[in-house]
Amino acid sequence: MKYKAYLVEENEGQFSGSIKELEVPSLEMGKVLIKVHNSSLNYKDALASTGVKGVVRSYPFVPGIDVSGEVLECSSSKFSVGDKVIATGYKIGMAEFGGFGGIVHLPDEWVLKSPENLSHYDAMSYGTAGITAAACVKKILDAEVTKNLPVLVSGATGGVGSIAVGLLSKLDYEVHALTGKIDEIEILKSMGATKIISRDEYMSEPAKALDKGIYSGAVDTVGGEMLSKILSMISNHGVVSCCGNVGGMMFSSSVFPFILRGIQLSGIDSAESSLNLKSELWNLLSNQWSLDLSNQTKTVKIEDIDLEIDKILKGNQIGRVVIEHGE
Ligand SMILES: NC(=O)c1ccc[n+]([C@@H]2O[C@H](COP(=O)([O-])OP(=O)(O)OC[C@H]3O[C@@H](n4cnc5c(N)ncnc54)[C@H](OP(=O)(O)O)[C@@H]3O)[C@@H](O)[C@H]2O)c1
Repeated sequence: MKYKAYLVEENEGQFSGSIKELEVPSLEMGKVLIKVHNSSLNYKDALASTGVKGVVRSYPFVPGIDVSGEVLECSSSKFSVGDKVIATGYKIGMAEFGGFGGIVHLPDEWVLKSPENLSHYDAMSYGTAGITAAACVKKILDAEVTKNLPVLVSGATGGVGSIAVGLLSKLDYEVHALTGKIDEIEILKSMGATKIISRDEYMSEPAKALDKGIYSGAVDTVGGEMLSKILSMISNHGVVSCCGNVGGMMFSSSVFPFILRGIQLSGIDSAESSLNLKSELWNLLSNQWSLDLSNQTKTVKIEDIDLEIDKILKGNQIGRVVIEHGE
């Protein structure tokens, strides 16, 4: 039996993806075979699709760190045929062929049963971006960060950023959105932001050792110098959830935000989080924290993914991209 997948191949150092028919693997012990109904596009998938070093172990390869589908076969009693399941992160789309294919063959310890009330489509409109945003927000909530000052979200129109804006706003925080797409005021407001800040304006002055503490917390998807600046502007006992590096890997800070304001810098690694934490976050997203993402989600067939990969690499995506496989 064959299935259709977006296979990335390397040819003389150049990487390109195309739709290929692949043989369905035979079920191995400890694994589960899943028919993928939907996947989604994350920044990491774009890196995997273009051969950026350090993401995929070896090519040819099928990217896709997110999967929502139904169990076809399982080597243990953990899942029954037909179970609705979600799998995100771990080494999916990095060392194991991922959700850009119509079938995946994954270790069963990476897979969880989907909440009853969450469709395949809705699950993937959150995807890794959604559980990452939820993990960032949970750090802020768990530290009981005050709602008396606004929280800042960087990369606000992106996948993680837009969901973080929505979640924080739903949880009654005043949300300020930091964006490079200053023309997208309306969509950012519809996501729940009350103030839109231009990235260029925000970054026009270099970070100080300690600036005015005007934010109670932040979700930073950008990293680099933007993170340096954000840290200097967090008020006493605030929390910055740091999850991304689209703006750079290295950042600098003085110790002042930490020793004079007691702020916390919380790292998020959603891919390698425990299945228990992932399950908790999926339950929140499908119940108390559920968001209507329809305005900020686009659906594409896997055949049309190239254009979307190009857009996310240029920082031009808005919200989320859900991938359909069809029959
Ligand atoms: N730690 C984890 O567990 C985890 C999980 C998922 C994702 N991530 C990381 O989080 C980041 C965002 O992922 P995503 O899937 O949300 O990507 P995305 O949809 O492309 O969003 C990133 C957003 O950042 C802004 N941006 C892009 N390039 C920038 C630049 N050079 N300087 C400043 N801002 C820039 C843009 O928003 P604006 O135009 O609105 O500014 C862009 O839409 C990535 O670094 C990704 O690897 C980490």
